[in-house]
Amino acid sequence: MKALNRLALAVSLSCAALAAPLTAHAGEVEVLHWWTSGGEARAVDVLKQLMQKQGDTWKDFAVAGGAGEAAMTVLKTRAVSGNPPSAAQLKGPDIQEWASMGFLANISDIAKQGNWDTILPKRVAQTMQHDGEYVAVPAGIHRINWLWINPAVFKKAGAKVPTTLDEFFEAADKLKAAGVVPLAHGGQNWQDGTIFESLVMAIMGPEGYDKVFVQTDADTIRSDKMVEVFKTFKRIKGYVDPNAAGRDWNLATAMVIEGKAGMQIMGDWAKAEFTAAGKKPGVDYECVVMPGTQGDFIYNIDSLAMFKIKNKDNQKAQDDLVRTVIDKPFQEVFNLNKGSIPVRNDIDLAKFDSCAQQSAKDFQAANAEGKAEPSMAHSMANTSYVQGAIFDVVTNFFNDANADPKKATEQLVAAIQAAK
Ligand code: GAL
Repeated sequence: MKALNRLALAVSLSCAALAAPLTAHAGEVEVLHWWTSGGEARAVDVLKQLMQKQGDTWKDFAVAGGAGEAAMTVLKTRAVSGNPPSAAQLKGPDIQEWASMGFLANISDIAKQGNWDTILPKRVAQTMQHDGEYVAVPAGIHRINWLWINPAVFKKAGAKVPTTLDEFFEAADKLKAAGVVPLAHGGQNWQDGTIFESLVMAIMGPEGYDKVFVQTDADTIRSDKMVEVFKTFKRIKGYVDPNAAGRDWNLATAMVIEGKAGMQIMGDWAKAEFTAAGKKPGVDYECVVMPGTQGDFIYNIDSLAMFKIKNKDNQKAQDDLVRTVIDKPFQEVFNLNKGSIPVRNDIDLAKFDSCAQQSAKDFQAANAEGKAEPSMAHSMANTSYVQGAIFDVVTNFFNDANADPKKATEQLVAAIQAAK
C-alpha cells in the first residue's frame, strides 16, 4: 500500500511535470528602458499590462536617466557578459551598431505577417532594419522642436507666445521682469543638446541641420551661421535659473506646470507630464513649435530592439512583445500616455489632443518636403561616439561664461573628427 501510494505520488508528480510546459504560459520578457518619470511610467505600464494579459511575465529593467545614457551603459555590460535582456529601447544608428555586432534577433517574419512595409512610414521602417531585415519594433514618434508654455504665467507677465527667436527673447525678458524663471531647464548634456539642436534647426534650417549633425560637414560647422547658433545658445543661458545643473527634465517640466517657470524647450514626452498632472493643452499649457522651426520636424523614434536569447519560452514571449507593440491598441494607448504619435499610418487620431494631431500632420508634411531630420540629442542622427563629442563641446560651452562662439565651432569640428 505504502509502495503504491508512493508510486501514485510519483506518477502524479511526473504528470504535473509533463503537463507544466503545456499549460505554462509563454515566458518572460525582460525589457530595458529608461521610462521612469510620471508620464513615461504610465506609458510603459500599458505594455506591461498587455503582455501580462497574454500570460507572459514582465520583468522590468528600468534604468533611470533621461535620454538613456545610463541605460546604454548597463546594457553593454549585460550584453557583453552574454546575458542580454529580451528587448531594449535602442534608437537610430545604435540599432545598426548592435545588429552588426550580431546581438539582435531577426523579426522579419513577424514584420511580413504584419505588413510593416505598408503600415510604417518608410523612414521609420528603414530605421528598424539592418541589412534589409527587421531587428527592432517601433513604439512611437516624438517631436523634439517644441516649446512648452504656461499661458497663465505668460498672461501675468504680459508676454506674447513667440513664433520667432526674437519674439522668444522678448517673451523671456517679460517673464524675467515678472520674477519667474523664463526657461525651465536641466543642466544635463542631452538637455543642453536638445536646446542646441533646436537652435541649429531654427537658424540653419533642415538642410544646414542635416549637414551639421548627419553629414558632420566641417565647412558647415565652421560657418558664420554656426557662430550665430552658439551666440544664441549663450544668450539663452541668461534665462535659465542658477539651480539648473543636474536637474532632471521632468522636474524642469514641473516648474512650468506649477507656474514657477514660463517655458521649456523639450520633446513631447514633456506633454506626458502635463497629461499625468491632469492638465489640458490650450487651457493649462500650450504646445508651440520651437520659434523659427515651423514646418520643420526633428524626430525621435522610440523603438525596442530584440536581442538573441536562448530560452524557447522567452523567445515566444519576445514574439508576443513584438506583435503587441505594433498592434493598434498598444499604439493608441501607449502614445496617448507618452506624448508621442503612433508609428503606423492607419491609426485614427480622434482620441489624440491638438498637439499630437499637429505633430502627425507636420511629420507627414515635413517628410514629403525634406524637412524632417533625426534628433542628434536623442541618438537618431549619428553614432554614440559623435554624439558624445558634440555633447562635450556643447555642454562645456553652455557652462563657461567666457567661452567664445567662434572657437566653439572649431572645437566642434575637431571633436567630431576625433570621434569618427
Ligand atoms: C528620449 C526617449 C523618450 C523619452 C526621453 C526622456 O531619448 O526617446 O522616450 O523618454 O528620452 O527620457
